[in-house]
Amino acid sequence: MHRFADPAKWWNAVYSDVPLTTQWDDGDHTGADRGVMPTSSNSMPTMVFSMLAALEVEDGNRVLEVGTGTGWNAALLSHRLGSDNVVTVEVDKTSAGDARCRLSRAEYYPTSVVGDGVEGYATGAPYDRVIATCSVGRVPHAWVNQVRPGGVIVAPWGPEYGGEAVVRLKVSADGTAHGRFVGSSAFMRLRRQRASRPNSLEYLSGPWPADGTESTTGVSPDDVGSWLAMFAVGVQVPGVFPLVERYADGTYTLWLHDTAITSWATVDWEPGRHDYEVVQSGPRSLWDEVEAAWHWWCRHDRPGFDRFGLTVTPGSHTVWLDSPENPIPLRG
Ligand SMILES: C[S@@+](CC[C@H](N)C(=O)[O-])C[C@H]1O[C@@H](n2cnc3c(N)ncnc32)[C@H](O)[C@@H]1O
Repeated sequence: MHRFADPAKWWNAVYSDVPLTTQWDDGDHTGADRGVMPTSSNSMPTMVFSMLAALEVEDGNRVLEVGTGTGWNAALLSHRLGSDNVVTVEVDKTSAGDARCRLSRAEYYPTSVVGDGVEGYATGAPYDRVIATCSVGRVPHAWVNQVRPGGVIVAPWGPEYGGEAVVRLKVSADGTAHGRFVGSSAFMRLRRQRASRPNSLEYLSGPWPADGTESTTGVSPDDVGSWLAMFAVGVQVPGVFPLVERYADGTYTLWLHDTAITSWATVDWEPGRHDYEVVQSGPRSLWDEVEAAWHWWCRHDRPGFDRFGLTVTPGSHTVWLDSPENPIPLRG
């Protein structure tokens, strides 16, 4: 959509509380229609403001933003802290160039870097705050190293399984970072951490059910399908991802795969049933893992994102419930 082609529609989009996709397929797709994967956007305003609130910047703070996108968030930070205190890194050269033009037209001149935000930006360090506007499954340790002790990292974080929330980490003098999740999110993944999703056929030794072992379950695949349930399950089953195959009659199959391509499972959902057909194959019994993870979540009163927290050290990520002394169990 172009501002001058349909100004009313354009302004309406600008003032809507929705994310506005500005790039598809890393720029390989152009034109007015949708591509396959959104790869850059102007983030949803309420999400931007809630993340800035969590960042709690103070006068004189230096901030590193990872994921310049349109440059809007960098403009807000520059307005609050002064352009000299803001560094913004964007992996996509075209997006970074466009953002730089927009920022300078608005008379903001943050340090705008084209590069992989995984590395942070050591030249501008130390920072008081790091904010990522693309999601991660591992917080790059460069971010922790480049923040002063007592500083804060705000980043969308999610397991491979799905479900995602913004985490607010406080950096300690010993080079670790700890903090709670503050709310649900759904961001584009940091480029280098995008998951590869092999096709189901790569897992099967023959036509389904191949060598799979059949059983039934009383847990509906619907029960594990909400964003929060996916997060609660996903943090317990590392290296597992779901796919849903829907059929014309409204039924569906939930497929589970492991990223190591050793194990798979299917669960068939049909309306009105109280038990569901399961098939599992490989060294990991993926549905059993997911079901156990879901029961754990239910036993703990289905905690929301805000009861989960994360501890990051140079070699580990530990998700916990309520306090760092209470790490969540890992299945598999
Ligand atoms: C949701 S958009 C950012 C929104 C933006 N902050 C704004 O105000 O409009 C996510 C951006 O992260 C960028 N990105 C993805 N991986 C990155 C990486 N490794 N380093 C830096 N930027 C990255 C994408 O190219 C995309 O532009």
